Amino acid sequence: MAKQASVASVLGAALVLIVALLAAFPAAVHSIGVCNGVLGSNLPTPSDVVQLYKSKGIASMRIYAPETGILRALAGTGIGLVMDVPNENLTAMASSPPFAAAWVKANVQPYSSSSGVSFRYIAVGNEVVDSEGQKNILPAMKNLAGALAASGIGIKVSTALRFDAITNTFPPSNGVFSDPSFMGPVAAYLASTGAPLLVNVYPYFAYVDNPRDIQLGYATFQPGTTVRDDGNGLVYTNLFDAMVDSIYAALEDAGTPGVGVVVSESGWPSAGGFAATAENARRYNQGLIGHVGGGTPKKAGPLETYVFAMFNENQKTGLETEKHFGLFNPDKSPAYSISF
Ligand SMILES: *[C@@H]1O[C@H](CO)[C@@H](O)[C@H](O)[C@H]1NC(C)=O
Repeated sequence: MAKQASVASVLGAALVLIVALLAAFPAAVHSIGVCNGVLGSNLPTPSDVVQLYKSKGIASMRIYAPETGILRALAGTGIGLVMDVPNENLTAMASSPPFAAAWVKANVQPYSSSSGVSFRYIAVGNEVVDSEGQKNILPAMKNLAGALAASGIGIKVSTALRFDAITNTFPPSNGVFSDPSFMGPVAAYLASTGAPLLVNVYPYFAYVDNPRDIQLGYATFQPGTTVRDDGNGLVYTNLFDAMVDSIYAALEDAGTPGVGVVVSESGWPSAGGFAATAENARRYNQGLIGHVGGGTPKKAGPLETYVFAMFNENQKTGLETEKHFGLFNPDKSPAYSISF
């Protein structure tokens, strides 16, 4: 009897430990999310979109603005959410704590209960590249964090960078921020709050800029190419890892080695331009999905990563390839075969 009781209590303690470990590392279970852009005239309804995420087992979503329909459809699903404060609202958020408070009240508070939306981060701005706009980012992050704290909401605040915010990216250990006067204070703030830095990482664009020196297989997670970083002796078998490790190097250079990285976008177009084929897109995205759970040479462990994007978006402007980053067509059929 005594023996049985002790076996039971040991099992019980082990179970408690396992549950505690699972609760402490939610990202370890699910490192892949998908960005849900809405610049299409023919996209499914929010509840159909969320249903598709669920049926494919996609653990998290990024959206580029607070969208009521999607927020309502996500409530109670457990799907993690990264939500942006759109760039056009940063001037107001940077200059006005009451604006930040109203934004939280309208867009976060109604969904932040335990049965609501599983917010992961709020990204203050996406790919803000002009220096005037960049001046707004840190004050806007602080006003937003203040408004969240005042409402008792514990969501971490960050910003999503375009990859060219990092320079000297090869070898990866040489990576530094392109504008330390902008990113130094942002990185220091993230270090103080424990939030990660979000960065959009596209080996596709690096490859199309320099197909002479970069091999397609290296850019698309195919075996056959290895590159050594002479600065630290690490060996790279794919361009994605090399790019991500240059971000870690930039954070070290800024004196903030403890700040984590989330890849807030990555993807490959299936049509519309150079190297944009369904087969290359499938190889890249399937490679990415299979890869990020293990992290990079510099930093092992799950790397939270968001594939861009869920759907082909026919109203995206710019290069023709921009319309063809989707994993799915607007009718919810797969753009090419992929598994999560
Ligand atoms: C954000 O900016 C857009 C474009 O200027 C504007 O229409 C919208 O009302 C702003 N949002 C808020 C909450 O003020």
